[in-house]
Amino acid sequence: MLTKERRDYSLTGKINDRAVPLDDDYIEDQVEATWWHPTISRKELKALMQRTDGSALRHFGLWIVLLIVSGYAAILSWGTLWAIPAFLIYGTIYSSSDAGWHECGHGTPFKTRWLNEVFYQFSSFMTLRESVLWRWSHARHHTHTYVVGLDPEIQVMRPADLLKIAMDFFYLRSGPPEVWRIVRHALGRPNADVRSFVPESELNKMYWSSRVYVAIFIVFGVWSLAIHSFLPMMFIGLPRFYGGWLHQLLGLTQHAGLKENVFDHRQNTRTVYINPVFRYLYMNMNYHIEHHSTPMVPFHTLPRLHEAIKDQTPRAYPNLWAVYKEMIPALYKQATQNPDYHIVRDLPTTANAPKSAPNGAASRPSTNGTAQETLAAQWVDACAVTDIGEHDVIGFNHNGKVYAIYRLQGDQFYASEGLCTHGQTELSGGLIINGCIECPKHNGRFDVTTGKAVQHPVKVDLKTYPAERRRNRVFIHIPE
Ligand code: FES
Repeated sequence: MLTKERRDYSLTGKINDRAVPLDDDYIEDQVEATWWHPTISRKELKALMQRTDGSALRHFGLWIVLLIVSGYAAILSWGTLWAIPAFLIYGTIYSSSDAGWHECGHGTPFKTRWLNEVFYQFSSFMTLRESVLWRWSHARHHTHTYVVGLDPEIQVMRPADLLKIAMDFFYLRSGPPEVWRIVRHALGRPNADVRSFVPESELNKMYWSSRVYVAIFIVFGVWSLAIHSFLPMMFIGLPRFYGGWLHQLLGLTQHAGLKENVFDHRQNTRTVYINPVFRYLYMNMNYHIEHHSTPMVPFHTLPRLHEAIKDQTPRAYPNLWAVYKEMIPALYKQATQNPDYHIVRDLPTTANAPKSAPNGAASRPSTNGTAQETLAAQWVDACAVTDIGEHDVIGFNHNGKVYAIYRLQGDQFYASEGLCTHGQTELSGGLIINGCIECPKHNGRFDVTTGKAVQHPVKVDLKTYPAERRRNRVFIHIPE
């Protein structure tokens, strides 16, 4: 058996020599320039990125009905053998709140922001992921997917711990530390890793959110003691454990056994076809390469994105069995013989999109500054009016700097610096929603008229510049 030391996956520890150095300036510069992005036309991508409250309400509405019906059946069966299947079904549906946590954390299912937030808070509690902490954690995961020492959400660390993987089908190894972390945060004691990705200004919010979770646990615990039955806890808290099998079964397919430290989601992430029931409960996250390469696309259009870019990605696994048939021997090998072993995915030869094209931005119209007409006081001719549709954005390069030009209704043009203040992603790959530009990387939003940062995780406002239409051109005013 393997006797090698465990790797250091902590975010603040000494990372092994294969990892990218933990140097934010270095890594932030590198990540956007280096990650692979699919080639897809702006028009098609924009259509896929649209949010509708209807799709999300239908999804969550049905989910709530299923929870109530299965929960009611579970109560009726209490004390009989029927309770076993009844609670298994209830717990499985309850644990699929993890998919809701994930999607609402991205802010993509609903068009209406407060609906995203409400479902995010409920789902976070149900899946035992404290909402503030995990929002920041997941942003990090998307920036540094499967990079050792930078990604806080590497599910299977090497050498693979097979017992832990097996126990987590009932959340028995990861669950207790997660609950303990909530308790620690309720006491205001985050560890160094958490401090490395949750901004100081968010810590208080995280402590109070954790306190609410702990208070609810206590209420249900006391209730159970008072009635000498753990039935109340079978409905809140415990379902995430006894019903967690599907979450683990599907979650492992995302990255386990694949390559670490590579800037290509096609090599560290999987897409797999699964049955419609699982797909519903998992909110289409089986299209995981698609989700990671273009996180602005909501769950309900991911299958269409998959169709649009599948010639650029490795072949999707035909079913879960195909994934596990390959993954289990790979994890066993990592655990017992060679921690460096990983599955290599065959990349299609047609897929060599420019590495520096962020989120489809390469395919959008953009002037490069060579044909610009500079007028007095730095009014710069940025593009033709027809280059930007209503409620859209394009990128514009001038004197080595990137700008974003927005068009709302008619001739309402606006301009700002072109890189997101959170992680330097080009905003021209984003989506205009209710007068805001949503960043394509972590779904942060800025008001395009003022540059104000209005949605997590962005904190710093954008610089804005006057923009206006002059005949058939759009000019922006860039100060020296
Ligand atoms: S790069 Fe993180 S929200 Fe823009």
